Amino acid sequence: MYRILMTYDNMEGLDALIANKNFKIEIHNKPSPEQFKELIKDYDGLLIRSEVKVTSDIISAAGKLKFIGRAGTGVDNVDKTAATQKGIVVANVPGGNTISAAEHTIGLMLALARNIPEAHVSLKSKKWDRKNFVGTELFGKTLGLIGLGKIGFEVAKRCLSFGMKVIAYDPFVNVELAKNNGIEVKSLEEIYQHSDYISIHSPLNDSTKGLINSEAIKKMKDSVRIINCARGPIVNEHDLSEAIKSGKVKGAAVDVFAKEPPEDWSLIETNNTVITPHLAASTEEAQVKIALEMSEVIIDFFTKGLVRNAVNVPAVTWEVYKKMMPYMDLVLKSGSFQGQISEGGIESVELEYCGHFSDFNTSVLTVSYLQGLLSPLLDIKVNSVNAFTLAKERGIKIKESIIKDSGDYLNLFTAKVKTDKSEISISATLFNDKNPRIVNINDLNVDVSPIGGKVVIINDDRPGVIGKIGAVLGDSNVNIAGMNVGRKDSGKSALTIIEVDNVVSNEILKELLKIQGVQKAKYVVLQLL
Ligand code: NAD
Ligand code: MLT
Repeated sequence: MYRILMTYDNMEGLDALIANKNFKIEIHNKPSPEQFKELIKDYDGLLIRSEVKVTSDIISAAGKLKFIGRAGTGVDNVDKTAATQKGIVVANVPGGNTISAAEHTIGLMLALARNIPEAHVSLKSKKWDRKNFVGTELFGKTLGLIGLGKIGFEVAKRCLSFGMKVIAYDPFVNVELAKNNGIEVKSLEEIYQHSDYISIHSPLNDSTKGLINSEAIKKMKDSVRIINCARGPIVNEHDLSEAIKSGKVKGAAVDVFAKEPPEDWSLIETNNTVITPHLAASTEEAQVKIALEMSEVIIDFFTKGLVRNAVNVPAVTWEVYKKMMPYMDLVLKSGSFQGQISEGGIESVELEYCGHFSDFNTSVLTVSYLQGLLSPLLDIKVNSVNAFTLAKERGIKIKESIIKDSGDYLNLFTAKVKTDKSEISISATLFNDKNPRIVNINDLNVDVSPIGGKVVIINDDRPGVIGKIGAVLGDSNVNIAGMNVGRKDSGKSALTIIEVDNVVSNEILKELLKIQGVQKAKYVVLQLL
C-alpha cells in the first residue's frame, strides 16, 4: 500500500487513483512548514498544487518519499535539486491549464480596457454612473507579449481575432513559426516602444525576475496597460504601483504576486488595477484535465515503475544509462553550452555522431543533447522524457547523421545550431572513453573541458586585449583556472574561453564589454542538469 499525502482538498478527477487498492490518499490541507516537515516522514508520494513550498528542508525530512506530483505547470515551488539528489521523481502536468490561463488573460485584458470591475462595484452600490467608466476598444491596438510559449500563443490567437496587432519578445522562439501564426517577433525594447498592452507569459527565471521595473516602464508607451498572469516576481510591484499612480501606466491586471498570499498590499490597493488571487488555471476543466493525467502518472509510477512527465529524471533504464552516461553527459553539456551562448530563436539543429558514438542508440543521445540545449531556455525542467516534444513544439528542425569514420578521433560528436541570428557549431570527444573535451567551436580548434564555469569572449586578436580581460577578472576576485584562444587568421577576431572558479556576475561582464576590443562576453556554466 502506497501512502500519498495531498496538500490541497480537491479530489475531483482523481477517481482512478482513489479507486486503486494500492493507494491510500490522505489530505492535509495547506500544512504549515512545521506540520509539513513532520507529516512528510511517512509518505511514499506527495501530491501538491501551489499551496506549499517543498523546500530542501521538507525533502530532507522525507524518509521514504519517492514521488512528488505537481498538479499544474510551474514546479518553482519544489526544490528539484534537493529532490533529484534524494532520488525523488518530480512530475508535473504541463499544458493542462494552457487554455484556462490564456482565457483568464483575455478576461483580465477586457476587464482592464472596459473598467468592468469598477463599474460593477459602483452599480452594486446603487450608483448609475455611465460617465466615469468609458473604456477603450482592443481593436486596432498593439499587444506585446513577453514569452511566446504555450499560453503566449493561445493569447495571441485570441487577440488576433479581436483585430489587435500582436508582437512578441521571446529569445528562444522560432521566428518563422510565430510569423506563420500572425505574430511578429521583436526585441524587448520594441515591445516596450510599440505596445498598448503588455502581457507576460514567460517563466520566472534569472533573466525575468524583476524584468518589469521602473527602468523598463520608462521605455514603454504612455498609458500602456500591463497584464501579468505568469509569476509575481517578474514584476516589481512597487515600481508598477508608482507608475500607475503617476499615470505613465494606465492600468494593470495582475493574477500573480511576489508573495502569495500577499504581504505587501500596496499594488492591490492602487486604483486602476484588476486583481485576481492566482486564478488563471482555476477552471473546472483545467483542474479535472490535470487531475486525470496526474492520477495516471502516479499509478504508472508506483505500479509499473514507468516514469512519465518527470522534470528531473532521465527516461532510460539504469543499466543503459550507466553505459551511455559519459556520452550522454558530453552531448548534454555540448547542448547546454550552445543553449547558453546562442542568440535568437532556434530554427534547426544538425547532429553528427561519428566513430564510437554510432554504437549507441543515437536517438537517446539526441534527446540528451536537446535536454542540454533547451534547459537554459525554458522554465520547466527539460529531461529525456520531454526534450524532443519541447523541441518539436518550438518548430526546431532536427537532423541526425551517423558516420562510422571519425577522422583523427575515436569518437566525435558535432552539433550545428542555426538560429534566426547566428550559427554555432561545436565538436566534442571523449578521450579514453572518459575524458570529455570540446575540440572545435565554429571551425576553430580549441581544447576546453565541458565542465564548470566559463567566460566565452569574442575579441579583437591584438596585443593587450587578453591582458585587460585578465585584469578585470582578477580585480573582481575571479580566479582563472585555464584559458583557450582560438582564431582563424591573426589580427582578426578570436574566440577566448576562460575557465573560472568563481561566478561571473552581469556587472563583471559589463566591465569586460567596456574593454576596447571585446565584442561579446558571456558567462556559461556547464553542470549536471
Ligand atoms: P512555456 O514554457 O510553454 O512558455 C514559456 C515561454 O517563455 C517559452 O517560449 C520560453 O522560450 C519563453 N521565455 C523564456 N525565457 C524568457 C525571457 N527571458 N523572456 C521572454 N520569454 C522567455 O510555458 P507556458 O505554459 O506558456 O507558461 C508560461 C508561464 O505562465 C509559466 O511561468 C507558468 O508557470 C505560468 N503559468 C501561470 C498560471 C497561473 O495560474 N497564473 C497558469 C499556468 C502557467
Ligand atoms: C501553474 O503553474 O500550473 C499555475 O500557476 C497554477 C497553479 O499554480 O495552481
